[in-house]
Amino acid sequence: SDPALAELLNSRIRDVPDYPKPGVLFKDIAPLLADAEAFAALVDALASRAKAHGATKVVGLEARGFVLAAPAAYAAGLGFVPIRKKGKLPGEVYGRSYELEYGSATLEVQCDAFEPGEKVLVVDDVLATGGTLSASLDLVRQAGAEPAGVVVLMELGFLPGRDRLTEHLGGAPLETL
Ligand code: PRP
Repeated sequence: SDPALAELLNSRIRDVPDYPKPGVLFKDIAPLLADAEAFAALVDALASRAKAHGATKVVGLEARGFVLAAPAAYAAGLGFVPIRKKGKLPGEVYGRSYELEYGSATLEVQCDAFEPGEKVLVVDDVLATGGTLSASLDLVRQAGAEPAGVVVLMELGFLPGRDRLTEHLGGAPLETL
């Protein structure tokens, strides 16, 4: 971990009370994305993790994960693969459903997104309940690639996201910036 980076990133994340509904404290990353120095530091950190883990692709999770993973892939000299919400990707896809507070959601990846055995870095903005990342890690494996690591900008420590994720990581490291 990098305390100076964490402090810079933290200082650019805005708490928005009662959004999207009463009682929820929303972590708004818009100020971070709008700040050239903080955004560059974040993207550089993600790119350096991709290189450190020997990744051959960077995977981003819709929608805010795209904004972080795509420039990180570019900076690391790697390709980018999106994991999207159901019905957004053309052609053959693999899908995984996961539980939400009310109901469920499904994520998809294109079947030909990876060459067999590729190592990927999975990137998202927030780890909350862990449902999104758990389904995404399963999808990466189903599509024939190996998660080399997971990096999130922030983790909501009062939720059991990290515990829920453990069995889906298969030993890949999970890092919070
Ligand atoms: C948010 C966030 C993560 C996910 C984390 O995305 O960007 O992807 O929730 O929550 P979890 O750990 O409980 O699964 P959201 O589903 O709001 O989609 P969006 O980025 O498209 O708004």
